[in-house]
Amino acid sequence: MNSFLTSKWTKAVVFVLCCVPFGVLFWRAFHNGLAGFPDNMDFGANPIEFITHRTGDWAIRFLVIPLAIPPLRQLLRQRQLIRFRRMLGLFAFFYACLHFATWIGLDKQFDWTEMWKDVLKRRFITVGFTAFVLMIPLAVTSTAGMIRRLGGKRWRALHRLIYASAILAAIHYYWLVKSDVRKPLMYATFITILLAWRLVVWARDRGQHFPQGTAPTRRQAEVPST
Ligand code: HEM
Repeated sequence: MNSFLTSKWTKAVVFVLCCVPFGVLFWRAFHNGLAGFPDNMDFGANPIEFITHRTGDWAIRFLVIPLAIPPLRQLLRQRQLIRFRRMLGLFAFFYACLHFATWIGLDKQFDWTEMWKDVLKRRFITVGFTAFVLMIPLAVTSTAGMIRRLGGKRWRALHRLIYASAILAAIHYYWLVKSDVRKPLMYATFITILLAWRLVVWARDRGQHFPQGTAPTRRQAEVPST
């Protein structure tokens, strides 16, 4: 199992799997109406809504999956699982960018005044926008060089923003659905459990990892625990 998780091929396969939702979306954009796809994969009457929903769904999934890695790593006793967390987090940002770009380009057609009004007035847009903005410093500082430059302590403090972003994303989802709140509540429950787990671990380990002033090594930089 360990050699499977450390293989560069496994990482490549996970990368390709993470690209599949984008590939399917891209494919549908150019082959809309082709037989062989289930109904729920059809672009339907409102392609913009379809793309917004699909990219939003994948953004929130990829936000939650990396949060589950530290507890899974402990439960399954598979330390190497952490190797995948940064990549999965970056895919969350990638799908959130597509989601946001769909809103900017296709939905609002670059009408900046209208967009700004929406950000200020519609509460689900306000929190979605905030969730997205919080992801930007995380994506920018995800390289090994940036981790070393910031130092383990500051990097970890900054990357705790991922929990805030995930909570806001769940609120965004909850506020935008009209009737069936089961899915947003499911995400909110997952995030709450993962955050609670994290708080227990932080309380237990406070101050033990990376003593002050100690920047992580390259290997640690790949797997710093937030
Ligand atoms: C971390 C960032 C974000 C995440 C994870 C996220 C997630 C989601 C999810 C899960 C949905 C619902 C998908 C479904 O119903 O199947 C959604 C819908 C939507 N999101 Fe986001 N979102 C984010 C940021 C944003 C931003 C920045 C905007 C625009 C400023 C935005 C605008 C929308 C809109 C317009 C919808 C569709 C609303 C409707 O159907 O009435 N989202 N988003």
